[in-house]
Amino acid sequence: MGNTHSWINSPGYAPNRIAFERIIGTQCLDCHVSFAKQEPADLPGYYGGGEGFEKTSLVYSIDCERCHGPAAEHVKFQTENPGEKAARYITTYKSLNRAQQINMCAICHSGANNHMLKPAFGFKPGDTITNYMRLFSSNAPVNYKAIDVHGNQIGLLQSSKCFIGSNITCSTCHDTHVNDRDKVVLYAARCMACHNRDAHNECKLTNQLSAAVLTNNCISCHMPAFSSKLIVAGQSGALIRTHHIAIYPEETQKVLAMVSGKK
Ligand code: HEC
Ligand code: HEC
Ligand code: HEC
Ligand code: HEC
Ligand code: HEC
Ligand code: HEC
Repeated sequence: MGNTHSWINSPGYAPNRIAFERIIGTQCLDCHVSFAKQEPADLPGYYGGGEGFEKTSLVYSIDCERCHGPAAEHVKFQTENPGEKAARYITTYKSLNRAQQINMCAICHSGANNHMLKPAFGFKPGDTITNYMRLFSSNAPVNYKAIDVHGNQIGLLQSSKCFIGSNITCSTCHDTHVNDRDKVVLYAARCMACHNRDAHNECKLTNQLSAAVLTNNCISCHMPAFSSKLIVAGQSGALIRTHHIAIYPEETQKVLAMVSGKK
């Protein structure tokens, strides 16, 4: 996100009111920091109310171990054995099956309405996710137009034909070690690992749009961005992209209008 380029209220706040008295419970921190030690407290929290945390225990941001699991032994072994090139005492991504690879992201990216069973900090790659959370949406139909912050990228992707018909995972399109924000053309290249512009011969878009416009803008037409209703600055909400990859005729019209306007 960050596309409003301004300070903006978190989800759950009125857009035009500053409320410093609001409590940020440990369950926000489960997904937004790397560690916070829970402390019993009787707080009227918003999520997972009732829990406080020890301020000095906070480890900010999403660090390596949130995705790769505890690595102290790995670091010790590799440091003591610099000649050893095989990774020991760490779970590598390619050793995980597809569901486990997706769950590495699902612990934080399947929406904020799931019922947490225990703090997500303990989750390691390969763990059974249902020991940590009851997935709210596993069978519910996904409303791709009601997407927002905390918008269940997992459920939306799973509802797409790309997901059903291939082995696509989050890392097919995302390299989480790199900031790929707004690199529309780079994402299009990732689509073209499986597709090409011939998909548009029948509908004649290949005649209406130049090859460059068509091949650079896959996500404008097939993963459109919608305005957030939860994070709003002035009149506009932050733009959030849907992960329900599909055909959105209105979005195609917008791109066609934009291109003809430029001529
Ligand atoms: C948001 C999750 C996430 C974070 C944070 C993260 N990684 Fe990764 N990392 C991944 C994923 C996913 C892969 C697999 C990418 C692929 O193969 O497509 C990966 C791959 C790797 C690999 C290659 C071995 C393997 O498991 O496939 C190394 C080494 C690695 N990461 C180190 C790090 C280090 C060091 C940090 C912290 C500086 C870090 N990662 C932070 C998700 C993450
Ligand atoms: C520990 C929780 C956690 C895990 C695990 C995690 N993420 Fe995230 N991710 C976040 C949070 C929180 C943000 C929002 C950061 C912000 O905007 O301040 C985020 C943001 C992102 C973004 C948007 C970055 C941008 O350009 O704004 C992508 C893409 C993403 N994550 C992909 C992944 C993928 C893929 C995985 C699994 C390999 C993964 N994440 C695992 C918590 C997590
Ligand atoms: C289940 C994990 C989870 C929980 C719980 C959670 N968040 Fe998030 N939050 C995320 C992820 C992942 C993103 C970024 C991707 C997205 O928008 O879905 C995010 C995005 C945000 C953003 C937008 C960040 C930006 O760069 O614009 C804010 C603000 C935020 N969360 C605040 C909160 C607050 C406050 C709470 C508790 C009341 C909370 N979150 C609880 C996972 C979580
Ligand atoms: C790993 C391969 C793979 C990748 C990467 C991929 N897709 Fe797909 N996609 C598929 C498969 C398989 C289908 C289903 C084809 C079928 O059912 O005939 C599909 C279907 C589609 C459809 C038809 C959807 C519908 O509802 O009719 C669109 C549109 C689409 N993909 C666009 C994209 C875009 C845009 C990207 C990049 C953001 C992308 N795909 C990335 C494999 C992939
Ligand atoms: C077919 C390609 C594709 C796949 C697969 C995919 N994403 Fe994305 N994702 C994108 C694109 C394109 C964007 C928009 C990037 C931008 O505008 O900078 C995006 C944006 C995001 C964002 C930021 C949301 C926003 O708009 O603020 C998050 C978080 C994210 N993805 C998480 C995930 C997770 C988790 C998975 C696995 C369930 C996943 N993605 C799988 C293509 C994909
Ligand atoms: C200007 C909007 C637009 C752009 C840009 C665009 N598409 Fe499409 N795409 C469409 C429309 C509209 C359809 C539906 C065609 C139809 O109804 O036959 C479609 C259909 C598809 C299909 C399904 C074809 C089928 O046989 O069912 C795939 C796959 C696809 N697009 C992938 C992509 C990829 C990958 C890119 C980028 C290289 C891309 N599209 C760029 C609008 C667009």
